[in-house]
Amino acid sequence: MNLEAIIASIVEEMRAAPDRGEVATYIPSLAGVDPGQFGMAVVTADGQVFAGGDAETAFSIQSISKVFALTLALGKVGDRLWNRVGREPSGSAFNSIVQLEAEQGIPRNPFINAGAIVVSDVNLAGHAPREAIGELVHFIRYLASDDGIAIDEAVARSEQETGERNRALAHYMRAFGNLHHPVELTLGVYFHACAIAMSCRQLAMAGRYLMLCGAHPEGGRVISDKRARRINALMLTCGHYDQSGDFAFRVGMPGKSGVGGGILAIVPGKASIAVWSPGLSRNGNSQLGSLALERLADATGWSVFGL
Ligand code: DON
Repeated sequence: MNLEAIIASIVEEMRAAPDRGEVATYIPSLAGVDPGQFGMAVVTADGQVFAGGDAETAFSIQSISKVFALTLALGKVGDRLWNRVGREPSGSAFNSIVQLEAEQGIPRNPFINAGAIVVSDVNLAGHAPREAIGELVHFIRYLASDDGIAIDEAVARSEQETGERNRALAHYMRAFGNLHHPVELTLGVYFHACAIAMSCRQLAMAGRYLMLCGAHPEGGRVISDKRARRINALMLTCGHYDQSGDFAFRVGMPGKSGVGGGILAIVPGKASIAVWSPGLSRNGNSQLGSLALERLADATGWSVFGL
């Protein structure tokens, strides 16, 4: 299989694609991103990196950070996390509040905002917010073997200024006793996680542990193989909000999207893939990113459902 040629042809198609979706506007600092960009990086299990388009341009990883924050939280409290967060697809928007009332402040899964806010609350325990944020950034640098990964402070400020829905979710969960720290402290951790900036290359590198059953490619183990399997399962069932079923149908890989237009996708045992194009479908997932992954799955046969 000639991955270089496959990626080059996908990049060419995506560069010219007329229907690119809409850039997220509800956070002012995301609204100004040029929708013409497209990048893609693939790291294979033997450590080769294939990249194309704007693969070196840093973008706001947004909700993709929820995968790394979940990994960290599971390392701290293990399966006790599941007393506070569910493991079912929500079938509703990433920032929806409706299910929280019927389900007594327990979010459906760790990849919708409410779930990620509980995860941030877990990661905050025993720390000042600044330390909890630093721990997450260091963890991602370790996963990616890259010290150049940092937070975009302008995006973090923008999140803080426009995060009223997240405040509503957090207060509501706190009323049910499912948030242990003051709302502004927990949200400080959550907003900064969303504002981490990474390139496709860095993101694909950071996802290597999920393709390698929890092992770090440079030695040692990030998490157990069972935990890696479970995180991949959650990405497949919940990683694209109310479009998770459609993503599984079209692409067939565990994946996590963010409103910055990035998607991290994992082919267990084979590849860690990052794509980025800022225009979103109406469910808040990268329009061309999903299409590019569909093309890649078709060209390579990579999927968790095939041979
Ligand atoms: O919580 C928010 O509003 C965002 N900063 C993060 C959400 C996100 O990426 C959801 N995704 N598709």
